[in-house]
Amino acid sequence: MSAGRVKVTVGVCGGIAAYKAVELVRLLQDAGLDPHVVMTRGAEEFVRPLTFAAISGHKVITSLWGEDAGAGTEGDESAIEHGSVIEHINEAQTTRALIVAPATADTLAKFAHGLADDFLSTMYLATTAPVIVAPAMNVNMLGHPATQANLEVLKARGVHVVEPGTGYLACGMVGGGRLAEPAVIAAVVAEVLAGASSSRAGDLAGETVVVTAGGTREAIDPVRFIGNRSSGKMGYAIAEAAKRRGAKVVVISAPTALAAPAGCEVVPVVTAEEMRTAVMEHLPEATMVVMAAAVSDYRVAKVAAQKLKRNGARTLELEPTEDILSEIVAQRRAGTLVIGFAAETEDVLANGREKLRRKGVDAIVVNDVSSCETGFDSDRNAGGLLTRDSAVEIPAMSKTAMAERILDEVAKLRAGAGSQSR
Ligand code: CTP
Repeated sequence: MSAGRVKVTVGVCGGIAAYKAVELVRLLQDAGLDPHVVMTRGAEEFVRPLTFAAISGHKVITSLWGEDAGAGTEGDESAIEHGSVIEHINEAQTTRALIVAPATADTLAKFAHGLADDFLSTMYLATTAPVIVAPAMNVNMLGHPATQANLEVLKARGVHVVEPGTGYLACGMVGGGRLAEPAVIAAVVAEVLAGASSSRAGDLAGETVVVTAGGTREAIDPVRFIGNRSSGKMGYAIAEAAKRRGAKVVVISAPTALAAPAGCEVVPVVTAEEMRTAVMEHLPEATMVVMAAAVSDYRVAKVAAQKLKRNGARTLELEPTEDILSEIVAQRRAGTLVIGFAAETEDVLANGREKLRRKGVDAIVVNDVSSCETGFDSDRNAGGLLTRDSAVEIPAMSKTAMAERILDEVAKLRAGAGSQSR
Protein backbone atom coordinates (compact mmCIF):
# COMPACT_ATOMS: atom_id res chain seq x y z
CA MET A 1 0.00 0.00 0.00
CA SER A 2 2.96 2.33 0.50
CA ALA A 3 4.60 1.98 -2.92
CA GLY A 4 5.66 5.38 -4.19
CA ARG A 5 4.37 7.20 -1.12
CA VAL A 6 6.57 9.59 0.81
CA LYS A 7 7.60 8.11 4.14
CA VAL A 8 7.14 10.28 7.21
CA THR A 9 7.51 9.35 10.87
CA VAL A 10 4.97 10.22 13.54
CA GLY A 11 6.41 10.28 17.06
CA VAL A 12 3.74 9.80 19.71
CA CYS A 13 4.49 10.84 23.30
CA GLY A 14 2.71 10.06 26.54
CA GLY A 15 -0.15 12.48 26.86
CA ILE A 16 -3.91 12.16 26.93
CA ALA A 17 -3.94 13.62 23.39
CA ALA A 18 -2.07 10.53 22.12
CA TYR A 19 -5.38 9.19 20.79
CA LYS A 20 -5.58 12.17 18.41
CA ALA A 21 -2.38 10.94 16.76
CA VAL A 22 -4.47 8.05 15.39
CA GLU A 23 -6.52 10.54 13.38
CA LEU A 24 -3.35 12.37 12.36
CA VAL A 25 -1.88 9.16 10.94
CA ARG A 26 -5.10 8.62 8.97
CA LEU A 27 -5.05 12.21 7.63
CA LEU A 28 -1.42 11.88 6.57
CA GLN A 29 -2.34 8.72 4.67
CA ASP A 30 -5.24 10.58 3.04
CA ALA A 31 -2.70 13.21 1.96
CA GLY A 32 -0.79 10.52 0.07
CA LEU A 33 1.96 10.01 2.65
CA ASP A 34 3.21 6.79 4.22
CA PRO A 35 3.35 7.40 7.99
CA HIS A 36 5.41 5.13 10.24
CA VAL A 37 4.89 5.41 13.99
CA VAL A 38 7.35 5.63 16.88
CA MET A 39 5.94 5.60 20.42
CA THR A 40 7.57 6.59 23.67
CA ARG A 41 7.11 4.40 26.73
CA GLY A 42 4.62 6.93 28.11
CA ALA A 43 2.54 6.89 24.92
CA GLU A 44 1.91 3.17 25.38
CA GLU A 45 0.10 3.99 28.62
CA PHE A 46 -2.53 5.83 26.57
CA VAL A 47 -2.83 3.99 23.25
CA ARG A 48 -1.80 0.46 22.34
CA PRO A 49 0.85 0.18 19.62
CA LEU A 50 -1.42 -2.28 17.86
CA THR A 51 -3.83 0.57 17.03
CA PHE A 52 -1.14 2.44 15.14
CA ALA A 53 0.20 -0.75 13.57
CA ALA A 54 -3.24 -1.62 12.24
CA ILE A 55 -3.83 1.83 10.81
CA SER A 56 -0.38 2.50 9.38
CA GLY A 57 0.22 -1.04 8.16
CA HIS A 58 3.75 -0.86 9.56
CA LYS A 59 5.53 -2.11 12.63
CA VAL A 60 5.38 0.41 15.45
CA ILE A 61 8.70 1.17 17.10
CA THR A 62 8.43 1.35 20.86
CA SER A 63 11.96 1.00 22.19
CA LEU A 64 15.55 1.73 21.36
CA TRP A 65 16.58 -1.70 22.51
CA GLY A 66 15.45 -4.92 20.85
CA GLU A 67 13.97 -6.85 23.77
CA ASP A 68 14.59 -10.16 22.08
CA ALA A 69 15.19 -11.26 18.55
CA GLY A 70 11.73 -12.70 18.19
CA ALA A 71 9.79 -9.83 19.69
CA GLY A 72 6.83 -8.75 17.64
CA THR A 73 6.91 -11.63 15.25
CA GLU A 74 3.96 -13.60 16.44
CA GLY A 75 0.34 -13.38 17.36
CA ASP A 76 -1.68 -10.21 17.72
CA GLU A 77 1.35 -8.07 18.26
CA SER A 78 3.00 -9.14 15.01
CA ALA A 79 3.15 -5.62 13.75
CA ILE A 80 4.85 -4.18 16.81
CA GLU A 81 8.59 -3.86 16.87
CA HIS A 82 10.81 -2.93 19.77
CA GLY A 83 13.51 -1.23 17.72
CA SER A 84 17.22 -1.89 17.57
CA VAL A 85 20.36 0.01 18.25
CA ILE A 86 20.90 0.96 14.62
CA GLU A 87 17.31 1.15 13.55
CA HIS A 88 16.95 4.75 14.65
CA ILE A 89 19.68 5.64 12.14
CA ASN A 90 17.85 3.82 9.38
CA GLU A 91 14.51 5.40 10.33
CA ALA A 92 16.17 8.82 10.64
CA GLN A 93 17.78 8.57 7.24
CA THR A 94 14.84 7.22 5.29
CA THR A 95 12.09 9.47 6.60
CA ARG A 96 11.19 12.75 4.91
CA ALA A 97 9.75 14.40 8.04
CA LEU A 98 9.58 13.72 11.77
CA ILE A 99 6.26 14.82 13.24
CA VAL A 100 5.88 14.64 17.02
CA ALA A 101 2.26 14.80 18.17
CA PRO A 102 1.53 15.13 20.98
CA ALA A 103 4.93 16.49 22.02
CA THR A 104 5.19 16.47 25.81
CA ALA A 105 7.25 18.88 27.92
CA ASP A 106 9.66 16.02 28.59
CA THR A 107 10.29 15.22 24.93
CA LEU A 108 10.63 18.91 24.03
CA ALA A 109 13.23 19.23 26.81
CA LYS A 110 15.13 16.19 25.53
CA PHE A 111 15.13 17.58 21.97
CA ALA A 112 16.25 21.03 23.13
CA HIS A 113 19.11 19.63 25.20
CA GLY A 114 20.20 16.81 22.93
CA LEU A 115 19.36 13.97 25.29
CA ALA A 116 18.96 10.63 23.56
CA ASP A 117 17.60 8.00 25.93
CA ASP A 118 14.78 6.54 23.85
CA PHE A 119 14.08 5.83 20.20
CA LEU A 120 12.32 9.14 19.48
CA SER A 121 14.91 11.43 21.05
CA THR A 122 17.73 9.46 19.46
CA MET A 123 16.06 9.63 16.08
CA TYR A 124 15.59 13.41 16.47
CA LEU A 125 19.37 13.80 16.78
CA ALA A 126 20.06 11.43 13.92
CA THR A 127 17.70 12.86 11.30
CA THR A 128 18.33 15.69 8.88
CA ALA A 129 14.69 15.70 7.78
CA PRO A 130 12.46 18.62 8.82
CA VAL A 131 11.01 18.26 12.31
CA ILE A 132 7.50 19.37 13.26
CA VAL A 133 6.37 19.33 16.89
CA ALA A 134 2.81 19.80 18.14
CA PRO A 135 2.99 20.38 21.90
CA ALA A 136 0.16 19.33 24.22
CA MET A 137 0.26 19.60 27.99
CA ASN A 138 -1.18 21.27 31.05
CA VAL A 139 -1.42 25.06 30.69
CA ASN A 140 1.05 25.76 33.51
CA MET A 141 3.56 23.27 32.11
CA LEU A 142 3.28 24.97 28.71
CA GLY A 143 3.68 28.43 30.21
CA HIS A 144 6.61 27.43 32.42
CA PRO A 145 9.75 29.36 31.45
CA ALA A 146 11.61 26.04 31.05
CA THR A 147 9.16 24.78 28.41
CA GLN A 148 8.98 28.15 26.69
CA ALA A 149 12.79 28.38 26.58
CA ASN A 150 12.98 24.86 25.11
CA LEU A 151 10.44 25.80 22.42
CA GLU A 152 12.45 28.92 21.55
CA VAL A 153 15.63 26.84 21.25
CA LEU A 154 13.86 24.42 18.92
CA LYS A 155 12.34 27.21 16.80
CA ALA A 156 15.71 28.91 16.47
CA ARG A 157 17.04 25.57 15.22
CA GLY A 158 14.40 25.46 12.51
CA VAL A 159 11.96 23.05 14.16
CA HIS A 160 8.40 23.84 13.10
CA VAL A 161 6.12 24.28 16.11
CA VAL A 162 2.39 23.80 15.61
CA GLU A 163 1.11 25.96 18.43
CA PRO A 164 -1.37 24.35 20.80
CA GLY A 165 -4.90 25.67 20.91
CA THR A 166 -6.99 26.93 23.79
CA GLY A 167 -9.88 25.09 25.41
CA TYR A 168 -10.76 22.46 27.99
CA LEU A 169 -7.76 20.39 29.02
CA ALA A 170 -7.85 16.87 30.35
CA CYS A 171 -6.57 18.16 33.69
CA GLY A 172 -9.79 20.10 34.14
CA MET A 173 -8.22 23.49 33.49
CA VAL A 174 -9.11 25.80 30.65
CA GLY A 175 -6.32 27.44 28.72
CA GLY A 176 -3.53 26.93 26.22
CA GLY A 177 -2.02 23.47 25.90
CA ARG A 178 -4.58 21.57 23.82
CA LEU A 179 -3.03 19.68 20.94
CA ALA A 180 -3.64 21.52 17.65
CA GLU A 181 -6.33 19.86 15.55
CA PRO A 182 -4.93 16.91 13.55
CA ALA A 183 -6.08 18.62 10.33
CA VAL A 184 -3.99 21.69 11.20
CA ILE A 185 -0.94 19.51 11.95
CA ALA A 186 -1.42 17.63 8.66
CA ALA A 187 -1.62 20.96 6.79
CA VAL A 188 1.66 22.10 8.35
CA VAL A 189 3.28 18.78 7.35
CA ALA A 190 2.16 19.36 3.75
CA GLU A 191 3.49 22.94 3.83
CA VAL A 192 6.83 21.85 5.25
CA LEU A 193 7.26 18.96 2.80
CA ALA A 194 6.40 21.27 -0.12
CA GLY A 195 9.07 23.69 1.10
CA ALA A 196 11.71 21.03 1.66
CA SER A 197 11.24 19.59 -1.80
CA SER A 198 11.69 22.89 -3.61
CA SER A 199 15.08 24.05 -4.73
CA ARG A 200 15.48 26.40 -1.77
CA ALA A 201 18.53 24.80 -0.19
CA GLY A 202 21.50 27.10 -0.65
CA ASP A 203 19.72 29.45 -3.06
CA LEU A 204 20.83 32.49 -1.03
CA ALA A 205 24.48 31.44 -0.74
CA GLY A 206 26.75 34.43 -1.31
CA GLU A 207 24.07 36.94 -0.21
CA THR A 208 24.40 39.16 2.87
CA VAL A 209 20.92 39.76 4.20
CA VAL A 210 20.28 42.56 6.69
CA VAL A 211 16.96 42.00 8.46
CA THR A 212 15.35 44.40 10.91
CA ALA A 213 12.93 42.99 13.46
CA GLY A 214 10.78 43.90 16.44
CA GLY A 215 9.19 47.16 17.50
CA THR A 216 11.31 50.22 18.33
CA ARG A 217 10.75 52.13 21.55
CA GLU A 218 10.87 55.89 22.07
CA ALA A 219 11.44 57.09 25.60
CA ILE A 220 9.00 59.44 27.30
CA ASP A 221 10.95 59.51 30.57
CA PRO A 222 13.42 57.07 32.20
CA VAL A 223 10.71 54.42 32.77
CA ARG A 224 8.11 54.92 30.02
CA PHE A 225 8.20 54.62 26.28
CA ILE A 226 6.04 54.72 23.17
CA GLY A 227 6.14 51.28 21.55
CA ASN A 228 4.07 49.00 19.37
CA ARG A 229 2.80 45.42 19.35
CA SER A 230 5.42 43.91 17.04
CA SER A 231 6.86 40.71 18.55
CA GLY A 232 9.78 40.34 16.14
CA LYS A 233 8.60 36.84 15.13
CA MET A 234 8.29 37.64 11.41
CA GLY A 235 11.72 39.26 11.16
CA TYR A 236 13.36 36.45 13.13
CA ALA A 237 11.65 33.83 10.94
CA ILE A 238 13.02 35.56 7.83
CA ALA A 239 16.51 35.72 9.37
CA GLU A 240 16.43 32.02 10.23
CA ALA A 241 15.12 31.04 6.81
CA ALA A 242 17.75 33.17 5.02
CA LYS A 243 20.45 31.55 7.16
CA ARG A 244 19.15 28.06 6.34
CA ARG A 245 19.23 28.99 2.65
CA GLY A 246 22.92 29.84 2.82
CA ALA A 247 23.01 33.63 3.36
CA LYS A 248 25.15 35.54 5.82
CA VAL A 249 22.55 37.24 8.03
CA VAL A 250 22.71 40.35 10.21
CA VAL A 251 19.63 40.96 12.36
CA ILE A 252 19.12 44.49 13.64
CA SER A 253 16.74 43.81 16.44
CA ALA A 254 14.55 46.10 18.48
CA PRO A 255 13.62 44.56 21.88
CA THR A 256 11.88 41.16 21.60
CA ALA A 257 11.30 38.22 23.92
CA LEU A 258 12.73 35.78 21.36
CA ALA A 259 15.90 33.69 21.44
CA ALA A 260 18.55 34.95 19.02
CA PRO A 261 18.22 33.32 15.58
CA ALA A 262 20.86 30.60 15.30
CA GLY A 263 23.92 31.46 13.26
CA CYS A 264 22.99 35.12 12.69
CA GLU A 265 24.83 38.22 13.85
CA VAL A 266 22.43 40.15 16.10
CA VAL A 267 22.75 43.91 16.64
CA PRO A 268 20.44 44.98 19.49
CA VAL A 269 18.90 48.46 19.24
CA VAL A 270 16.07 50.24 21.04
CA THR A 271 15.06 53.45 19.27
CA ALA A 272 14.29 54.26 15.64
CA GLU A 273 17.45 56.40 15.51
CA GLU A 274 19.61 53.53 16.84
CA MET A 275 18.06 51.22 14.28
CA ARG A 276 18.76 53.73 11.53
CA THR A 277 22.43 54.07 12.59
CA ALA A 278 22.89 50.28 12.71
CA VAL A 279 21.19 49.72 9.36
CA MET A 280 23.21 52.43 7.63
CA GLU A 281 26.41 50.97 9.12
CA HIS A 282 25.63 47.54 7.63
CA LEU A 283 24.18 48.79 4.34
CA PRO A 284 27.50 48.79 2.44
CA GLU A 285 27.89 45.00 2.93
CA ALA A 286 24.21 44.17 2.33
CA THR A 287 23.03 42.57 -0.89
CA MET A 288 19.46 42.37 0.46
CA VAL A 289 17.71 44.41 3.14
CA VAL A 290 14.43 43.23 4.65
CA MET A 291 12.78 45.92 6.81
CA ALA A 292 10.43 43.77 8.87
CA ALA A 293 10.71 45.99 11.96
CA ALA A 294 7.83 48.14 13.12
CA VAL A 295 9.66 51.44 13.37
CA SER A 296 8.17 54.29 15.36
CA ASP A 297 7.16 57.16 13.07
CA TYR A 298 7.49 59.64 15.94
CA ARG A 299 9.70 60.27 18.94
CA VAL A 300 9.07 62.45 21.96
CA ALA A 301 10.52 65.89 21.27
CA LYS A 302 11.75 66.45 24.83
CA VAL A 303 12.43 63.29 26.84
CA ALA A 304 11.99 64.01 30.56
CA ALA A 305 15.18 63.46 32.57
CA GLN A 306 13.19 62.31 35.61
CA LYS A 307 10.10 60.14 35.91
CA LEU A 308 7.06 62.28 35.13
CA LYS A 309 4.68 62.75 38.05
CA ARG A 310 0.95 62.30 37.66
CA ASN A 311 -0.33 65.82 37.26
CA GLY A 312 -3.63 66.14 35.41
CA ALA A 313 -3.87 66.12 31.64
CA ARG A 314 -0.59 66.16 29.79
CA THR A 315 0.34 66.73 26.15
CA LEU A 316 3.39 65.09 24.62
CA GLU A 317 4.97 66.85 21.70
CA LEU A 318 6.14 64.36 19.07
CA GLU A 319 8.58 64.88 16.22
CA PRO A 320 8.94 62.59 13.19
CA THR A 321 11.73 60.00 13.03
CA GLU A 322 13.66 59.42 9.83
CA ASP A 323 12.11 57.03 7.33
CA ILE A 324 14.87 54.40 7.34
CA LEU A 325 13.49 52.52 4.35
CA SER A 326 13.54 55.58 2.10
CA GLU A 327 17.09 56.35 3.23
CA ILE A 328 18.19 52.79 2.41
CA VAL A 329 16.65 53.04 -1.06
CA ALA A 330 18.47 56.33 -1.66
CA GLN A 331 21.87 55.07 -0.46
CA ARG A 332 22.01 51.39 -1.43
CA ARG A 333 24.62 50.01 -3.77
CA ALA A 334 23.48 48.99 -7.23
CA GLY A 335 22.01 45.49 -7.07
CA THR A 336 21.03 45.60 -3.39
CA LEU A 337 17.43 44.44 -3.14
CA VAL A 338 15.24 46.28 -0.64
CA ILE A 339 12.07 44.73 0.76
CA GLY A 340 9.70 46.69 2.97
CA PHE A 341 6.72 45.69 5.08
CA ALA A 342 3.37 47.39 5.31
CA ALA A 343 1.27 46.60 8.35
CA GLU A 344 -2.24 47.60 7.39
CA THR A 345 -5.64 47.31 9.01
CA GLU A 346 -7.74 48.36 5.97
CA ASP A 347 -7.45 48.49 2.15
CA VAL A 348 -4.46 46.21 2.56
CA LEU A 349 -3.50 45.79 -1.10
CA ALA A 350 -4.19 49.38 -2.22
CA ASN A 351 -2.23 50.83 0.71
CA GLY A 352 0.59 48.36 0.08
CA ARG A 353 0.86 49.31 -3.58
CA GLU A 354 0.90 52.99 -2.71
CA LYS A 355 3.69 52.35 -0.15
CA LEU A 356 5.70 50.32 -2.68
CA ARG A 357 5.66 53.30 -5.03
CA ARG A 358 6.22 55.96 -2.37
CA LYS A 359 9.15 54.16 -0.76
CA GLY A 360 10.77 53.04 -4.02
CA VAL A 361 11.41 49.49 -2.74
CA ASP A 362 11.76 46.35 -4.89
CA ALA A 363 9.01 44.54 -3.02
CA ILE A 364 6.66 45.11 -0.15
CA VAL A 365 5.10 42.49 2.08
CA VAL A 366 1.61 43.55 3.02
CA ASN A 367 0.38 42.27 6.34
CA ASP A 368 -3.21 42.31 7.43
CA VAL A 369 -2.81 42.98 11.14
CA SER A 370 -6.51 43.55 11.82
CA SER A 371 -7.09 39.94 12.93
CA CYS A 372 -5.63 38.50 16.12
CA GLU A 373 -5.33 35.07 14.41
CA THR A 374 -2.62 36.53 12.20
CA GLY A 375 -0.39 39.57 12.46
CA PHE A 376 1.21 41.08 15.56
CA ASP A 377 2.41 38.62 18.19
CA SER A 378 0.70 35.73 16.47
CA ASP A 379 2.60 32.72 15.15
CA ARG A 380 0.66 32.91 11.92
CA ASN A 381 0.48 35.57 9.29
CA ALA A 382 -1.34 36.36 6.06
CA GLY A 383 -1.08 38.98 3.37
CA GLY A 384 0.64 39.37 0.07
CA LEU A 385 3.85 40.32 -1.63
CA LEU A 386 3.83 43.12 -4.17
CA THR A 387 6.57 43.96 -6.62
CA ARG A 388 6.43 46.59 -9.33
CA ASP A 389 4.83 44.13 -11.70
CA SER A 390 3.44 41.28 -9.65
CA ALA A 391 1.16 40.53 -6.72
CA VAL A 392 1.38 37.21 -4.89
CA GLU A 393 -1.27 36.38 -2.34
CA ILE A 394 0.02 34.68 0.81
CA PRO A 395 -2.78 32.82 2.61
CA ALA A 396 -2.72 32.38 6.40
CA MET A 397 0.23 30.17 7.36
CA SER A 398 2.91 29.94 10.02
CA LYS A 399 5.42 32.78 10.07
CA THR A 400 8.14 30.18 9.40
CA ALA A 401 6.38 29.09 6.20
CA MET A 402 5.62 32.68 5.25
CA ALA A 403 9.30 33.58 5.65
CA GLU A 404 10.16 30.88 3.09
CA ARG A 405 7.50 32.18 0.69
CA ILE A 406 8.80 35.74 0.98
CA LEU A 407 12.36 34.57 0.31
CA ASP A 408 11.13 32.52 -2.69
CA GLU A 409 9.88 35.77 -4.23
CA VAL A 410 13.05 37.65 -3.26
CA ALA A 411 15.13 34.91 -4.90
CA LYS A 412 13.03 35.33 -8.06
CA LEU A 413 13.65 39.10 -7.96
CA ARG A 414 17.35 38.37 -7.65
CA ALA A 415 17.20 36.12 -10.70
CA GLY A 416 15.76 39.03 -12.69
CA ALA A 417 17.71 41.64 -10.76
CA GLY A 418 18.87 43.63 -13.76
CA SER A 419 15.44 45.06 -14.35
CA GLN A 420 14.31 45.20 -10.75
CA SER A 421 16.96 47.25 -9.02
CA ARG A 422 19.13 50.17 -9.90
N1 CTP B 1 9.81 52.17 8.22
C1 CTP B 1 11.06 52.74 8.28
N2 CTP B 1 11.26 53.86 9.03
C2 CTP B 1 10.26 54.42 9.71
C3 CTP B 1 8.96 53.86 9.63
C4 CTP B 1 8.76 52.73 8.88
O1 CTP B 1 11.99 52.23 7.66
N3 CTP B 1 10.50 55.50 10.43
C5 CTP B 1 9.62 50.96 7.38
C6 CTP B 1 9.08 49.76 8.10
O2 CTP B 1 10.12 48.95 8.60
C7 CTP B 1 8.32 49.04 7.00
C8 CTP B 1 7.87 50.16 6.09
O3 CTP B 1 8.68 51.29 6.42
O4 CTP B 1 9.17 48.19 6.25
C9 CTP B 1 6.44 50.55 6.22
O5 CTP B 1 6.12 50.85 7.54
P1 CTP B 1 4.71 51.40 7.91
O6 CTP B 1 4.70 51.84 9.33
O7 CTP B 1 3.65 50.45 7.44
O8 CTP B 1 4.65 52.63 6.90
P2 CTP B 1 4.80 54.16 7.11
O9 CTP B 1 5.80 54.68 6.16
O10 CTP B 1 5.03 54.49 8.53
O11 CTP B 1 3.38 54.62 6.59
P3 CTP B 1 1.99 54.81 7.39
O12 CTP B 1 2.33 54.76 8.86
O13 CTP B 1 1.54 56.14 6.93
O14 CTP B 1 1.11 53.68 6.95
